[in-house]
Amino acid sequence: MIRLVNVNKSFRGHVVLQNLSLTIPGGQTTVIIGGSGGGKSVLLKHIIGLIQPDSGEIWIDDDELTQLKEKDLYRVRKRFGMLFQEGALFDSMNVGQNVAFPILEHRKLPFAEVEKLVAEKLELVGLPGIESKMPAELSGGMRKRVALARAIALDPDILLFDEPTTGLDPIMTAAIDELIIDTQKRFHMTCVVISHDIQSVFRIGHKIAMLYEGRIIEEGVPEEFRDSKNELVQNFLTPLCR
Ligand SMILES: Nc1ncnc2c1ncn2[C@@H]1O[C@H](COP(=O)(O)OP(=O)(O)OP(=O)(O)O)[C@@H](O)[C@H]1O
Ligand SMILES: [Mg+2]
Repeated sequence: MIRLVNVNKSFRGHVVLQNLSLTIPGGQTTVIIGGSGGGKSVLLKHIIGLIQPDSGEIWIDDDELTQLKEKDLYRVRKRFGMLFQEGALFDSMNVGQNVAFPILEHRKLPFAEVEKLVAEKLELVGLPGIESKMPAELSGGMRKRVALARAIALDPDILLFDEPTTGLDPIMTAAIDELIIDTQKRFHMTCVVISHDIQSVFRIGHKIAMLYEGRIIEEGVPEEFRDSKNELVQNFLTPLCR
């Protein structure tokens, strides 16, 4: 469903993605792992069209992003929800306004309808009735949930998560993982998740891919991935066996 073909990207001569090819199956969760600064966030931003490759193709079903006109790119982008690494909620807006934001941007609906949708999304992430709270009053895990409610506000069929559990304790991490699993299943979404947490990776991934020096050096279903002969992959997995 999502296909990157020979994608190259450099920033001022610094090569980040190098002839990268990757297929992300539809209706499943694909987890991307790799070292810090290796280009995972850059890769995710290519998929949603926020960064253009220097060369290569990015296919979202039958749309090749680099060939699309602004209007069509907008149409394709509407299929996406994204949780950015920075997690950023708008601090000056309450929770309800945060979740309503994409709805107000993209759809013309009566106020009561917007309120209903916001309530529904907050309910889905297990935080019903917290519309009037401010982001500063929430724990890290709650903020992630609200960010997820906002990301699914427009019922996207593709959800991108950039390190959704970094900085959370193991219990909260497991809870967010469950939420990702539930949301993916319930709406049969295509999810792409970047994660550093090896337990999360195996909990949520139907497919796992490892980015190293700008390329995908290993990919497969969890069992294949675990059995990889690649030393770099095994180094990444080792802490799990200790
Ligand atoms: N907009 C940009 N302009 C210039 N350089 C950038 C830009 N975005 C990313 N980079 C560079 O690209 C490289 C990869 O960054 P990226 O954020 O994708 O890493 P990452 O794998 O997500 O790391 P982390 O695990 O720490 O989040 C870094 O060297 C970064 O400085
Ligand atoms: Mg990153």
